[in-house]
Amino acid sequence: MSAYRLTILPGDGTGPEVIEEAEKLLNCIENHTELAFDRTVIPCGGQYWLKTGEEWPAGSFEHCRDNSDAILLGAIGWPGANLPNGDLAGGQVILGLRSGLNLYANVRPIKLYAGVKHKIHDNFTQVWSPRNVDLLVLRENTEGLYHSLLRRSALRAQGIEPEDVEEMKFEGIEGEVAWDARPISVNGSKKLIRLGFEYAKRRNGSPSTGESSVTCVDKSNVTRGCQLFRRVFNEVGEEYPEIGKDAAYIDAFTMWLVRNPEWFDVVVTSNMFGDIVTDLGSVLQGGMGMAASANIGDNHALFEPVHGSSPKYAGKSKVNPIATINSVQMMIEWLGMRHNDNEAIQVSQLIEKAVSDHLQDGSILTYDLGGTASTSEVGSSIVDRLSELLQSQKAHSV
Ligand code: IPM
Ligand code: MN
Repeated sequence: MSAYRLTILPGDGTGPEVIEEAEKLLNCIENHTELAFDRTVIPCGGQYWLKTGEEWPAGSFEHCRDNSDAILLGAIGWPGANLPNGDLAGGQVILGLRSGLNLYANVRPIKLYAGVKHKIHDNFTQVWSPRNVDLLVLRENTEGLYHSLLRRSALRAQGIEPEDVEEMKFEGIEGEVAWDARPISVNGSKKLIRLGFEYAKRRNGSPSTGESSVTCVDKSNVTRGCQLFRRVFNEVGEEYPEIGKDAAYIDAFTMWLVRNPEWFDVVVTSNMFGDIVTDLGSVLQGGMGMAASANIGDNHALFEPVHGSSPKYAGKSKVNPIATINSVQMMIEWLGMRHNDNEAIQVSQLIEKAVSDHLQDGSILTYDLGGTASTSEVGSSIVDRLSELLQSQKAHSV
């Protein structure tokens, strides 16, 4: 197997710190397996823009598009780093790649591991346990309310300066108006929803019943885009008679998610709803430090922790690297499935085991999980576990 070409985008704030732990993990895999990663690290983000006037070096988008088997991103965003028109500096990295590479599905697992203490303080009962939080949210990633910024970012990433938003009149509203279109297409919805059903086939069902299901989360009592999304959900659902179907309005869904997370297996939703609901959902899994993600298209994929750059912790080695380590796990699993590479799939399963053993042990945790360990202590501890697992597997296979 030749080396996988990885493009690594550490980005802003704590991004480089968590990416360092990801790199330790990759080194460990290279040392103990046949897998190899040919890495290109590209500086980028809001801080890079403040320093250089560019969001990343010219040619970076093309490198991601043409010379990468997978992309790993730390975090983008820095206070005060905005382009002259107000757009997020660094947007052409994260949003430009989502749109420019057509990464239509943002796949975000919400899973509570045994041993993880979440930060909700409840005097009555411990509401959540690993028994009831294990769902997968698929957030549409190229349309919806993000559409205009996504398009502007993708154009900039390809060296084209986008035009300003057109004027529009809204009857009954006086004075200056800012507005965002929210296009939702049949094609985009179909791809996302189909992928949701495909994931449901491979998973273990909802924690409450063990039955596979896909829940469509929308606001189809109000918006046309959501009506279209719901219609496509119903149509695609017919292709999967063996999988349960359910639907909820986003407002009620947030309540059920907090109250009865065990009801849910796979959730499909539109872009902004998915953005919001996965931050909410992170609380059920121990916080943003635990939330991993994959941005998946037909030909490319980008993996990143859901958390941002956490400026106040930057440079302090305090933040939890597990969201990033689990994003690497998703990346190696995706590479394995895509390239029919059993070794990669096995390694991804061992990363999952190393993380889950580490959390069950519970002695080396960052502040967000109630511990005092540093980013690098947590990273090293997981890497040591992985190294042992890989060595013992090697010993058994000879
Ligand atoms: C996320 C982030 C991004 C988003 C920001 C940084 C543009 O919040 O990945 O969830 O809104 O999609
Ligand atoms: Mn977000």
